[in-house]
Amino acid sequence: MKVLLTGANGYIGRRLKKVLIGLPELDLRIFVRNKKSVSQAILDKYEVIEGDTFSKEDLQKALEGVDVAYYLIHSLNKENYQDLDKLSAQNFIDIAELCKVKRVIYLGGLGVKNENTSHHLLSRLETGEILSSSKTVQTIWVRAGVIIGSGSASFEIIRNLVEKLPFMITPKWVDTYAQPIAVDDVIAYLVASLNLEYNQNLIVDIGSKKMQYKEMMLQTATALGLKRVLIPVPFMSINISSYWLNLFTPVPFTVAKALIEGLKSEVTIQNENGKEFFPNIHPIGYIEAVKKAVLEIEQNQVISRWSDADGTIWDKNHQKEINDAIFVDRKEADISSYDKKKVFGAIKSIGGDNGWFDYDFLWEVRGIIDKALGGVGLNRGRRDSCDLRLGECLDFWRVEDIQEGNRLLLFAQMKIPGSAWLEFKIEGDKLIQSAYFYPKGIWGRIYWYSLIPLHYFIFKNMISKILENSTKLGN
Ligand SMILES: NC(=O)c1ccc[n+]([C@@H]2O[C@H](COP(=O)([O-])OP(=O)(O)OC[C@H]3O[C@@H](n4cnc5c(N)ncnc54)[C@H](OP(=O)(O)O)[C@@H]3O)[C@@H](O)[C@H]2O)c1
Repeated sequence: MKVLLTGANGYIGRRLKKVLIGLPELDLRIFVRNKKSVSQAILDKYEVIEGDTFSKEDLQKALEGVDVAYYLIHSLNKENYQDLDKLSAQNFIDIAELCKVKRVIYLGGLGVKNENTSHHLLSRLETGEILSSSKTVQTIWVRAGVIIGSGSASFEIIRNLVEKLPFMITPKWVDTYAQPIAVDDVIAYLVASLNLEYNQNLIVDIGSKKMQYKEMMLQTATALGLKRVLIPVPFMSINISSYWLNLFTPVPFTVAKALIEGLKSEVTIQNENGKEFFPNIHPIGYIEAVKKAVLEIEQNQVISRWSDADGTIWDKNHQKEINDAIFVDRKEADISSYDKKKVFGAIKSIGGDNGWFDYDFLWEVRGIIDKALGGVGLNRGRRDSCDLRLGECLDFWRVEDIQEGNRLLLFAQMKIPGSAWLEFKIEGDKLIQSAYFYPKGIWGRIYWYSLIPLHYFIFKNMISKILENSTKLGN
C-alpha cells in the first residue's frame, strides 16, 4: 500500500510518522514544506517530496500512485487561515481525484456548527466537508477534541495552570463539557483507518469519558500529586481569560484566544462510529493519559509539540536581512584547546530549563516583559534537554538553521521593534557568537541602544560559559 503522510512535521504528523515507519508493509512517502526539516535517516530510507498544498504541481508529485493519503494540515498561524485551509483542502482533493487516490484520512476537530462555533473549529469542519466532497475518493474523517499528550497545546495549558497556581480563579467556560483523548489513542485510530474495510465516507468521533474542563484541571492536579482550589467567577471576558493564559502558560495571546473561543461550546462525540468501526481501540482514561504525558516530559521523550510547526519560517529567507542587519554584537573565542563536538553540544543545550549560561534572571525578566506584551515569553522552553531540530522553538526563539558541529541560528519571536537573530558558528579554531538586529523605525533604534549595557554583560559571559560548559559534557 502506497501511503502519503502530509503535515509530517506537525504535532500529530510527527507522532504518526514514528508509528508508520515501523510498518514494513507500507510504502511510505512523506510530504513536507522544507526537506531540511527531515532527518538524514528519513531522507535515506523514505521518499520525501518537498511541496506546498497551494501548488497543484507539488500535490501531483506527492499524490501520484498513492493509495491512501493522510491529510494533517492546517495554517492556524496565518491571519486568513480559514480561506487558506479551504483552498488547501480543495487542491488536495482535486489532485487526489486526478491521481485516483482511494482513501484520504483526515484528523479534524470535534464539535458542531452553531452560533458559538469558533472560527478555528469552523475552519476544521469546512476542511472535512471539502475533503469529503469527492465522488471517487473516500474520506475517513476522524474528529478529536482536547488531545492529551506531552507538548499538546491544550494539555500544556492545563498542566501549566495547575502546576503554577495553587488557587485558580476560573471563568464560566470551565463548566463546558469535552471528551479528551490521549494522543496515542488518536494515533491508533489514524493507523487503524488505513486498513478499515469500508468504502463509504465516514465521520469517526473519538474521545474518552465526557468531563468538564474544571474536572480536567482537578484530575491533572491529582495526577501530578497536587492539591488545587478552583474559585469560580461569574464573568471573565475572553480577552481577560486569554491574557491570563498568555501570562501563565506557554501559549501566546493569539493561540490562547483561538482556544478559549472554542470553549464556549461542548466538544463531545456526535456518533458512535469510533466504537462501531474500531472495536479494538479502547481509549485510556484522563488521569492515565496525563501521567503518560508527564512521564514523557520527565524522560525527555517528547516527540512533538504544538509549537513546533510554524510555516512562517519556511516562507522567509532571512539571510539578506541578516546581512543587512544594522546592529551586530559579535564575540569570538579561541577553541583550539577545546573538543569542538562538545562545544557545539554546549551551544545546542542553550535555553529552557538549562538556562542561558549566565544572567538567567535577565532572560526571565525579558520573558515576563514579552508575555506582558502578549508575546510567547520563555514558557515554551525546550522539547529536549540536548537535542534541537530545525524549525522548532526554544523559549522565545525559533531554530532557523542548524548545521551539526558548525552553525546554530536562532530567530527571535519575542515582541521587538525589528528582527533579531542569535548565531553561533564554529569556523576552524574560532567560536563566533553574533547577535544581529534589523530595527524597524526609530523605536527599533531606541530599543537597541537602550539594551547595549545589558547586552554587554549577557553576551560577553555567554561565550565564556559555553566553553566552560563544554568541558563538563560527557562523551
Ligand atoms: N494538536 C491537537 O491538539 C489537535 C486536536 C484536534 C484535532 N487536531 C487536528 O489534527 C490535524 C493536525 O494538527 P497538528 O496539531 O498536528 O498541526 P500542526 O502541528 O500545526 O502541523 C500542521 C502541519 O501542516 C503543515 N502545513 C501547513 N500548511 C501547509 C501547506 N500549505 N502545505 C503543506 N503542509 C502544510 C505544516 O508543515 P510544516 O512543518 O512545513 O510547517 C505542519 O506539518 C489538524 O487538522 C487539527 O485540526 C489537532
